Amino acid sequence: MRSLLVLFLFCTPVRAGEVNSDALKRLVHQDCGSCHGLTLKGGLGPDLRMETLAHYDREGLASVILNGVPGTPMPPWEPLMSDDEALWIAQYLLTGESE
Ligand code: HEC
Repeated sequence: MRSLLVLFLFCTPVRAGEVNSDALKRLVHQDCGSCHGLTLKGGLGPDLRMETLAHYDREGLASVILNGVPGTPMPPWEPLMSDDEALWIAQYLLTGESE
């Protein structure tokens, strides 16, 4: 029986690296959009459209999202999302692709 339990524990999905892209898309447009504009063209925060973010690479952009911009209203999202989720958002902002 013990080996069955071990098997069960190993089979429990860890879901590392998996993201819920629908939920993240909503977060980008609603939460990020509350400052950056619902269409991400800028509001309190700057324009987040592809053209204006082109100077970032995916990792650099994910790190701005995770760390925020100290001294500005741009909050660090690190307490609220994983690295994979930040990378997903970075990819989404840079390419418009959500898969
Ligand atoms: C409370 C308001 C607020 C929220 C919510 C917010 N931001 Fe920001 N964000 C800002 C402000 C203000 C700046 C500009 C900081 C500065 O002056 O450099 C900024 C800057 C940025 C930048 C840098 C843009 C550039 O051109 O360098 C990125 C990228 C960014 N935000 C992404 C996001 C993402 C993605 C989210 C959602 C996960 C988000 N922000 C949520 C206010 C916000």
